[in-house]
Amino acid sequence: MANRWTNTLTDRDVTPEAAFLNRRQLMAGAAGLGLIGMASGAKAQDALEPNPWEDITQYNNYYEFGTGKEDPARYADALTTQPWSVKIDGMVDKPADYALEDILQAMTTEERIYRFRCVEGWSMVIPWNGFELADLLNMAGVQSGAKYVAFETALRPDEMPGVRYPVLDWPYVEGLRLDEAMHPLTIMATGIYGRDIPNQNGAPMRLVVPWKYGFKSIKSIVRITLTDEEPPTSWNKANPNEYGFYSNVNPEVSHPRWSQATERPIGGGVFASRVPTQMFNGYEKEVASLYEGMDLKANF
Ligand code: MTE
Repeated sequence: MANRWTNTLTDRDVTPEAAFLNRRQLMAGAAGLGLIGMASGAKAQDALEPNPWEDITQYNNYYEFGTGKEDPARYADALTTQPWSVKIDGMVDKPADYALEDILQAMTTEERIYRFRCVEGWSMVIPWNGFELADLLNMAGVQSGAKYVAFETALRPDEMPGVRYPVLDWPYVEGLRLDEAMHPLTIMATGIYGRDIPNQNGAPMRLVVPWKYGFKSIKSIVRITLTDEEPPTSWNKANPNEYGFYSNVNPEVSHPRWSQATERPIGGGVFASRVPTQMFNGYEKEVASLYEGMDLKANF
């Protein structure tokens, strides 16, 4: 379907030709099987040329499986993702443990090609498949007093070797303001390139908030809680001076230990040099109004 939210990249974003052809074949195959709607939006989406599958699935952050970039691909196979259920509770009309298959049956899944910018300074373009978080929250029925949404990742010491180490205060938790969670750009991703999302990328369902640093995009979600208080978040708890609640991509607000003015596109080939970081990761037009009147340096 038409994607309202992707925008045009420059010639800096060219992906090596092999990856480009590979993607074309994949898209053609998927469209042939009727997996992806290839209507008028296809052209606009192609303007954001995604990284190849290998980049997206071999260079990850998922500390429950270790802190190395290759650890998640190596160890996350151990995660049991079937059956899976998500507890939705707090200020909702229909609190329950929702079976993933029931959620998926009720949701409309589509492709969203988004920029993805990690707080560490690297970036990719990822073709997610997923549905709008707003649809899931509406299914549970958000009550009028709710102001925030809290998220929690599975905690499975038997399957997750990384949680034996106190790198973070497990389980991994994240949060959004309700209006951020309800924004149409915010999705729950269940796939990449039309295939099930691999465990290392947060199977079976992970958050994607493309205008925020990647750590807000919490993986393998087991609980979603609607609340009227700003929820704690893992990286903020670990280091409040370095990681704020908002964590919007902002080239003008430096991390205390490095500048955020530029980023390194993963797999950039001959264009591997750093490129300017964009305000709200390129989604300024869509999301700036959420923060009108807010001091973005104070609310980092
Ligand atoms: N979610 C959980 N549960 N654990 C993590 O360590 N890492 C975060 C985020 N979500 C993380 C997580 C960080 S720092 C980033 S940059 C992205 O996941 C990486 O997503 P990717 O591996 O799919 O690129």
